[in-house]
Amino acid sequence: MAIIFNETEKIFSIHTKNSTYQMKVDAYGFLLHLYYGRRTNGTADYLLTYADRGFSGNPYDAGQDRTYSLDALPQEFPCRGNGDFRSPALDVKDEGGIYGCDLRYDGYRLSKGKYAIPGLPAAYADEDEAETLEIIMKDEALNLQVHLLYGVLPKLDIVTRSVRIQNDGEKRIFLEKVQSACLDFVGGQFDLLTFYGRHAMERNVQRTAVTHTCQRICSRRGTSSHQYNPLLLLAEQGTTEEHGACYAMSFVYSGGFQGEAERDQFNQTRMMLGLCEEQFSYPLAPGSVFHAPEVIMTYSQEGLGQLSHNLHKCIRRHVCRGHYRDVVRPILVNSWEASYFNFSGQTILDLAREAADLGVEMLVMDDGWFGKRDDDYSGLGDWNVNEQKLGCSLKELVDNVNALGLKFGIWFEPEMINEDSELYRAHPDWVLALPERKPVRGRYQLVLDFSRKEVVDAIYEQVCAILDQANIEYLKWDINRSICDVYTHGEKAQETVLYDYMLGLYDFLERLVNRYPKLLIEGCSGGGGRFDAGMLYYTPQIWCSDNTDAVDRTRIQYGTSFGYPVSTVGSHVSAVPNHQTGRIVSLKTRGVVAMSGTFGYELDFGKLSEEEKSEVRRQIATYKELAGLIQNGDYYRLSNPFTDEIAAWEMVSDDKDEALVFAVMLEIHGNMPVSYIKVRGLSADSFYLDEMTQKVYSSNMLMESGLPVMAGLGAYQAFYWHLKKQV
Ligand code: GLA
Repeated sequence: MAIIFNETEKIFSIHTKNSTYQMKVDAYGFLLHLYYGRRTNGTADYLLTYADRGFSGNPYDAGQDRTYSLDALPQEFPCRGNGDFRSPALDVKDEGGIYGCDLRYDGYRLSKGKYAIPGLPAAYADEDEAETLEIIMKDEALNLQVHLLYGVLPKLDIVTRSVRIQNDGEKRIFLEKVQSACLDFVGGQFDLLTFYGRHAMERNVQRTAVTHTCQRICSRRGTSSHQYNPLLLLAEQGTTEEHGACYAMSFVYSGGFQGEAERDQFNQTRMMLGLCEEQFSYPLAPGSVFHAPEVIMTYSQEGLGQLSHNLHKCIRRHVCRGHYRDVVRPILVNSWEASYFNFSGQTILDLAREAADLGVEMLVMDDGWFGKRDDDYSGLGDWNVNEQKLGCSLKELVDNVNALGLKFGIWFEPEMINEDSELYRAHPDWVLALPERKPVRGRYQLVLDFSRKEVVDAIYEQVCAILDQANIEYLKWDINRSICDVYTHGEKAQETVLYDYMLGLYDFLERLVNRYPKLLIEGCSGGGGRFDAGMLYYTPQIWCSDNTDAVDRTRIQYGTSFGYPVSTVGSHVSAVPNHQTGRIVSLKTRGVVAMSGTFGYELDFGKLSEEEKSEVRRQIATYKELAGLIQNGDYYRLSNPFTDEIAAWEMVSDDKDEALVFAVMLEIHGNMPVSYIKVRGLSADSFYLDEMTQKVYSSNMLMESGLPVMAGLGAYQAFYWHLKKQV
């Protein structure tokens, strides 16, 4: 049993392979958090201390005991209004505008398997892989039930959390803030790691000490965003890739979110993750239920590398779904950087012919094939094939591409609309726009109101009509702006539009994956603007960034790797000079970087020399040989490309029989010193053969002293080693 309830002590213990999580129902019925960390026996209630502390109030039931204060005790799910003045996980207001909530324990339920959340993505598991704990808390005055859900995947050291709130009262209440997970630590000194960025430069890493200030990251853009990723890591100070205790929270949600970390007056740390509280005031009618999205939590006592492995395994096998979950993804060529809007059926076919000759497995026709769409000022919303532009029907084009031995994929941006479209002219009220104001445009487009079922249904019908026309095996689902004008012309409450929008989006995607179980969907939002575990439930890969520059990509993919496995990272070789940076990087280096993702190309093969084409053929052959190891191996960050002069990373097979080490020199200087890359995760006391050079290395030496990298002439050289254990 992973979950144990000690009836006498009223202590819940959750045990995973390497971690223990503990909480206690105290004498007043409050649920106190006791411990999350290294696996242990025993109970941690001795950690609770009591003192009469000024300006930290006492619950009425404590009577004259002025040493009991929720302001100082670690809590499992803190609310506003019960004497804890730190940031709450739950904030409730009644119809009279009165804030306050007082949750007391009312029971628990244990079940086999992992809970699901209606309408929302969540980690899943077989009955024998997981257990669920549901703790029921109650506010008597409001007649409100709050169910705290814990999903435990013991082998992976994963504990997921979600919250279900049920209004059993007779009056409407408003949920002003609901966080899905909160962690209180009585001691310790922590760093917070967050992943910030911008379009074309996502997931830079920021590491700051948790201090006496509320650090808060947030997306108020209606999508998880390029600017902040919904992933929070907390690491004991001094924690490295290989050593130290650290914690992760990853939000299984693709809309606005917030994450907080604060060191309080008594040097205790609180960390939380959940929905963005701004523009959120969820009216909960009598008898109705609200579901908070899930947070995946994990703990590692062996540094950030192990923390990422835990998240990777969970996302790869318990979040991603469908036919392609465990299947090596097809090597694709995407038409976007090859021709942008400027193509015809013939040029697409020419690209496919070149691609087939080189060994590419799929052709993706990107933006520009539908409606009136020769630039990004019109056409979104009109998902009908522009046969005039293609010079043939979609079926003819797809059949011709298939005849070359390639699969066919297509681009959509279902959530968006241009004012210059048939759809907008017919349904101007289907967009999110404030009454009496002109909407904010982004990329000259508006956002369809996916909180309305009729809108979702209409676009769904259009998308299916296209997918049914031809043998389409891949769909790129894009969204190219942030949501600004939060107003629905439909029937939903204005305060819930952004949340209902996400339910509409997830409903669409759920229907799509059920109707086309073999369709591979790649998520995208101007690259990686919606790269989160929520989308990965429907789209097992996401275009990582619109920035295809191999050097920038070493950093973007490094940041992404903290929370997301290689199998989810869309990565392509593109032309030089690079279209986003103008940088020139060798084809070998571009290949090495793109291989650490779902490999593909995004350029016009027709413009390559014969020598370059031979290099592409070699890359494709290499990738096909290594793809299983790349997608499923344990990923190690061997350097920090933001600070080191070399980017280096590694994949190791589960059985440690094989490893791939990659390196890219980020700096070049005269008379360069040698860089040594310490390899990780190999079997100790073994020998490994490098397939490339046929050299045999001792694993202990590789891990202790490393591999020497001697930069030759020229910037951004790439290196790789394919190590195989000798028997
Ligand atoms: C976004 C995507 C690109 C491409 C364009 C098409 O920017 O990230 O890959 O699909 O849209 O308009």
